[in-house]
Amino acid sequence: MDFLRLMQTRYTTKYYNPEKHIPEDVFQKILECARLTPSAVNIQPWHFITLESSEAKDQIFSAVPDFNRQRFKGCDKVIVLCAKTGFDKDFYARLAAKEVADGYAKKSMEADIAAGVMGYAKNRQNYESSLQWASKQVYLAMATILYAAAAYGVDSTPVEGVDIKKVDELLSLPEKGLNCLALVLLGCRSDTDSNTLDKRPKTRFDAGDILTRMK
Ligand SMILES: Cc1cc2nc3c(=O)[nH]c(=O)nc-3n(C[C@H](O)[C@H](O)[C@H](O)COP(=O)(O)O)c2cc1C
Repeated sequence: MDFLRLMQTRYTTKYYNPEKHIPEDVFQKILECARLTPSAVNIQPWHFITLESSEAKDQIFSAVPDFNRQRFKGCDKVIVLCAKTGFDKDFYARLAAKEVADGYAKKSMEADIAAGVMGYAKNRQNYESSLQWASKQVYLAMATILYAAAAYGVDSTPVEGVDIKKVDELLSLPEKGLNCLALVLLGCRSDTDSNTLDKRPKTRFDAGDILTRMK
């Protein structure tokens, strides 16, 4: 599908059909798209946790406020978007080694890449905390997941409306160097979803309000 058409037609699903499931091969493709999300200096400061059954979803249900509970229960799968922070030297070494292994960089450059990325990340801290910096990259992954899902005919709900500190606790994320930022719900819309475009057409500010073109 043309990308503009995809942007015009994807929408935030409010009511899911719990009987319908995302085919495994499609879910794997969506996750692969998330993995391929770009990030500053390729730091990839994220971790994605999937909750793929009622039992798995139940683990964080108490962190979901009333207004999001119905969709959380009805969707097929949940992706917990986590920011990774507190990188150590070992992390930068692993990143550089992977870039060499993937043929992106030369072996002779490995140590320089590790040092360069670490220097860049430290410099960022003049501007913002490592969590803020990581969060921006993770939200790019959120967007990737939403658009990939739409491209494969899967409905979605981005969810900031969740007690992220409670999710951290329930999934013991800080111990793993992770912080929950948001969720993405994925599944198949209910036939009576209240938010379909025929009932609630897309609404955005006009280009004149949000775009300045300088030529
Ligand atoms: C970062 C983010 C957080 C959001 N959180 C929620 C949420 O907690 N619950 C919900 O139903 N929708 C949530 N939404 C959906 C927005 O309300 C929706 O994207 C917006 O109204 C535009 O509508 P559209 O996605 O249908 O184009 C969120 C969207 C984004 C991008």
